[in-house]
Amino acid sequence: MGGQWGILGYGQMAQAMVGPWLESGLLQPEQIAACVRDQGRAAALQRRDGVAVGVDLRPVLMADHLVLACKPQQLHTVLETRAALDPPAMEGQGLVISILAGVSLGRLQAAFPGRPCVRAMPNIACRIRAGLTGLAMAGHLSPEQGQRVMAVFTVLGQVEQVSEAQMDGFLALAASGPAMVAVMMEALADGGVAAGLPRAQANSIAQVMVAGSTALLQKEQLPPSALKDAVCSPGGASIAAIAELERRGFRAALMDAILAAQGRSRELG
Ligand SMILES: NC(=O)c1ccc[n+]([C@@H]2O[C@H](COP(=O)([O-])OP(=O)(O)OC[C@H]3O[C@@H](n4cnc5c(N)ncnc54)[C@H](OP(=O)(O)O)[C@@H]3O)[C@@H](O)[C@H]2O)c1
Repeated sequence: MGGQWGILGYGQMAQAMVGPWLESGLLQPEQIAACVRDQGRAAALQRRDGVAVGVDLRPVLMADHLVLACKPQQLHTVLETRAALDPPAMEGQGLVISILAGVSLGRLQAAFPGRPCVRAMPNIACRIRAGLTGLAMAGHLSPEQGQRVMAVFTVLGQVEQVSEAQMDGFLALAASGPAMVAVMMEALADGGVAAGLPRAQANSIAQVMVAGSTALLQKEQLPPSALKDAVCSPGGASIAAIAELERRGFRAALMDAILAAQGRSRELG
């Protein structure tokens, strides 16, 4: 893929995307200019990843395409710094792809008038190209620009087109979801330890069990309820476990967790 790419904010998520872009050959290191706030971190990241990382917004803004990857709360400061550049940067005219939670296409479009803006919501598994990205694109993207956005994210895993109104819900399920699954697996392994299994073995069992359950659901195209029914025999151990989860409000807690993440995402924008 051609063109220079500016990465504004080179933290967890930007690194999770840039790594696979380079490994897959989609982009070459010299096509990327990234920036962070901390000089020492910039130097260390540049040494480690072989891409230009600095603390200056200018080269990032001047790239053809821009990926916004700071925290949503940091966008205001970034835009103020950009407005204070003297002389102003000669900015690229290509795509502006924002992965910021909650920040609307309208706000992006106001900050980057005339440029094709896209909201993307990748998840952390993009780092190993097993990710999931939700895309909401502004109506005026050309077919070529749309294809470019798709290419950038399909290399990181599955892509789902979502309406902008669905974006906060998508974030809650797909992007916050890995944290919830991680906490669930940690708690399951803790339970295993409480039941007498050694810690390392309990962690490993929880991981293989979750991976196997997911693979089975995917391969046989089962709804989760079918897997639960298949495991729970009458009067058995598994239905006793499910009954305990129901008594403790496990399902409602997960549903409320998704709604809490959706609500927080809306606030952040
Ligand atoms: N983490 C996830 O799983 C995930 C998933 C989907 C979407 N997102 C979205 O991705 C975005 C980044 O999240 P993250 O977890 O990657 O955060 P992060 O690790 O804190 O990264 C933020 C980056 O932005 C840089 N930055 C902040 N202010 C800046 C400024 N004024 N000028 C230049 N660089 C600046 C930071 O630099 P320093 O390192 O020097 O502080 C850091 O590199 C968020 O908007 C979040 O909503 C995250």
